Amino acid sequence: MLKDSVGAVVRLVTAAVLCGFVASVLLPALDPAVRAARATPLSHQAARGRWVYVREGCAVCHTQEVRAVEARFGMVRGAGDIGEASSPAQYAGQDPALVGRLRLGPDLTHVAARTSAQDLRTLLRSGKGGMPPYRYLSEAEVADLVAYLLTLR
Ligand code: HEC
Repeated sequence: MLKDSVGAVVRLVTAAVLCGFVASVLLPALDPAVRAARATPLSHQAARGRWVYVREGCAVCHTQEVRAVEARFGMVRGAGDIGEASSPAQYAGQDPALVGRLRLGPDLTHVAARTSAQDLRTLLRSGKGGMPPYRYLSEAEVADLVAYLLTLR
């Protein structure tokens, strides 16, 4: 009797673990959008720039998540330039994912589509409005950061 119920519990737990694995690891890994995101790793320079972004806390003021309601019609500088809505696949393999919470500055998901390397450099060095200047960053750090920002298309 006791043996039967222990066996049933073991089977139940095994089934639950298997279901969890399929739902949270296997199915997402098969998603074509997730595979595409993983297939295009950042260059070494952009990866270093991403760490500057993390270290400097850019994600405190900037999100990288375009909400469905603002997709296409959202406006940063001109109507529609905020870009397509974000999907979970966008964050595949990102550690940490830079979703952000506060929207003190514009969403940066597609920032590369509306700016240039030169404008980014000037902005980072001089600041603008609520965007603080980052004069203490080295030339190499700024170059890395710009390389990272230019991957956000
Ligand atoms: C204190 C909040 C704050 C922090 C921290 C911050 N920003 Fe900003 N950022 C802003 C604001 C506000 C703007 C809008 C400036 C304007 O155009 O008036 C902005 C603008 C920008 C833009 C231009 C966006 C566009 O669509 O034109 C980029 C790129 C940017 N920030 C990158 C960064 C990076 C990289 C960091 C970290 C090194 C950073 N920001 C840190 C507030 C912040």
